[in-house]
Amino acid sequence: MMRKTVRVCTPRYLQIGEGSVSCLPDILSAIGKISSPLIITDKTMVELGHVAKVQSALINQGIACGIFDETVPDPTDEVVLAALSKLEAGKHDCVIGVGGGSPIDTAKAVAVMSRYSRDIFDYRPPAEFNEPGLPMIAVPTTAGTGSEVTHHTVLVHAATREKISCRGEAFVPTAAIVDYDFTLSKPKRLTADNALDTLTHGIEAYISQKRSMYSDRMALDCMRLVGKLLDRAYADGGDREAREGLMFAATLGGLAFSNASICLVHAMSRPLGGLFHVPHGLSNAMLLPMVTEFSLESATPRYADCGRAIGFASTGDDDQTAARKLVQGLYAYNKNLEVPSIEAFGIDRREFENALGQMAEDALRSGAPNLNPRVPTKDEIIDLYRQAWSTAS
Ligand SMILES: [Fe+2]
Repeated sequence: MMRKTVRVCTPRYLQIGEGSVSCLPDILSAIGKISSPLIITDKTMVELGHVAKVQSALINQGIACGIFDETVPDPTDEVVLAALSKLEAGKHDCVIGVGGGSPIDTAKAVAVMSRYSRDIFDYRPPAEFNEPGLPMIAVPTTAGTGSEVTHHTVLVHAATREKISCRGEAFVPTAAIVDYDFTLSKPKRLTADNALDTLTHGIEAYISQKRSMYSDRMALDCMRLVGKLLDRAYADGGDREAREGLMFAATLGGLAFSNASICLVHAMSRPLGGLFHVPHGLSNAMLLPMVTEFSLESATPRYADCGRAIGFASTGDDDQTAARKLVQGLYAYNKNLEVPSIEAFGIDRREFENALGQMAEDALRSGAPNLNPRVPTKDEIIDLYRQAWSTAS
């Protein structure tokens, strides 16, 4: 059901386009008196030269910065606390997250925790933090998570491996630099996983019970761009037009789900990442076709729109046909983009079976399944995990 009023939350500045990282100093001065940013990133970003590119944009304008390059996939509260120590020791007055979703989520958490609680459990939903933290700039180097524009950050409690989706307007970056140049070097696997994460954002925002006129427009354009350009970027990573479109799609997808919600796919995907280290985009892709099939009859016209936007169905198809073509198209994506099943990913069967109860409970605790068109029971979630065990395409 469509909300009557909607409060849209976005970064104060979005700098979009090729070479936009060079505008970073202008963004900093527009935000206010910032003299000492801390770049939060990982070692791969350093090795790929992405951090040097950001640093030189700052140094060219006489701005010195610190670097914390120890973020990890599925960022933990421990890593956030380590980055906070560096922030305080260096008396930094701003954070710049450089990388995929994990470094940016880490930077967002550092910005908020520098002013509020440092106990990850204080951020468990339904808790929300809305007052701004330290200024934070997001510089995504992948086209996927949309984290540069969202009011969420996903952290893992290091001891229990529980994934917690921290939320509130405090987590929206102050500014985002959306420069597709960073994505040109990304390999096929990452290109596909990131784009399928983006597509999941578009679909889930569009079928969410918290959707609005605003999130619908963002979601539809997000899905159209992925449908048009994913195959091209996968076939030729140097296709600049495809890279540019997918980078913009990721930002649109982030604006869509951040201002609506994610639903059952993400709810089930996060425990797979938290417990078994399946990369986020990949775990979404493993689950997207069967969760869509499970939910289809509860929102057939909406799913039909998704099928048409992506290009799996045509405007001449009736809703039943277009919705069915969406499911077929998602299975075909997984086949063509070589998405493995959970089994083929290499997870131990017994460990997976033993974790099913906990994963289903974690998924339900996130709250997102309640926003799905068809709200699942715990047993239905377990059945869906079992379906995804051996089926990805
Ligand atoms: Fe996602």
